[in-house]
Amino acid sequence: MTMSNKGMTWIWVVVCLGLVGCAPEKTEPQKTTGSKASATKPADSTADRTAAQQTSPASSQEPKAPSSATTPPPAQAPAAQNPPAVEEAQEPKRPDVIFVPTPQEVVDKMLELAQVTKDDVVYDLGCGDGRIVVTAAKKFGCRAFGFDVDPERIQESKENVEKNGVGNLATIEQKDIFTLDLSKANVITLYLLPSLNVKLIPQLEKLKPGSRIVSHDFDMRGVTPDKVVTVDGDGGYEHTVYLWTTPLKKEAETK
Ligand SMILES: C[S@@+](CC[C@H](N)C(=O)[O-])C[C@H]1O[C@@H](n2cnc3c(N)ncnc32)[C@H](O)[C@@H]1O
Repeated sequence: MTMSNKGMTWIWVVVCLGLVGCAPEKTEPQKTTGSKASATKPADSTADRTAAQQTSPASSQEPKAPSSATTPPPAQAPAAQNPPAVEEAQEPKRPDVIFVPTPQEVVDKMLELAQVTKDDVVYDLGCGDGRIVVTAAKKFGCRAFGFDVDPERIQESKENVEKNGVGNLATIEQKDIFTLDLSKANVITLYLLPSLNVKLIPQLEKLKPGSRIVSHDFDMRGVTPDKVVTVDGDGGYEHTVYLWTTPLKKEAETK
């Protein structure tokens, strides 16, 4: 009996030690079970649904506490999701069409067709070397503005204005024509491209009634011109000049 009691005692000690040694391993799965349970929760409550909608799939696994020990420090985590804003360098606006000058006889015809007087305000959209602006100011004594995006053309235009002594009437500005407010003009001159003329329609529609628009060689699809004339240029090339008067006469859209 004595021997069997001692034996029982040793067995009891061994079993207890064995249980103490196993205890930490048994708590781990309990945590995992807990995290799985909470991961299903958001679908059941509005507050949790909102949180779920706001968090990424990675953060929806947040309840897995043990794994957070291996995740990067908080300072790095947001940086990975929201990289710091990098200021983009603003590229200078490039011309939508290259510089080709309107021959002087065509310039004269454009301004004649627009019936320019000294009381008019002429805007040349894409003024190139400034020849239309200079002619309007010099020949008709009106105020004229030239706009171009190309700094070289701006320089040439300013020199042209200076050379012809019309600095009191003519102004040259480096601007993208598609950002311009045309409300102060009542004569617009164009030598661009058909597609660019069409792109200008929303701006041209804001001109005062009775304003004139003249375009060298290119029409404006969807808007009926009041006049179309041809001019013989040097080299035997025939140029076309289109005239529109505001309000613009929009052609009925064909379906
Ligand atoms: C074909 S040239 C006409 C020059 C002048 N109007 C003439 O008839 O002699 C077109 C001009 O438009 C300018 N240009 C092109 N895109 C432009 C834009 N978005 N804004 C301002 N100017 C532009 C070009 O730099 C070029 O000087």
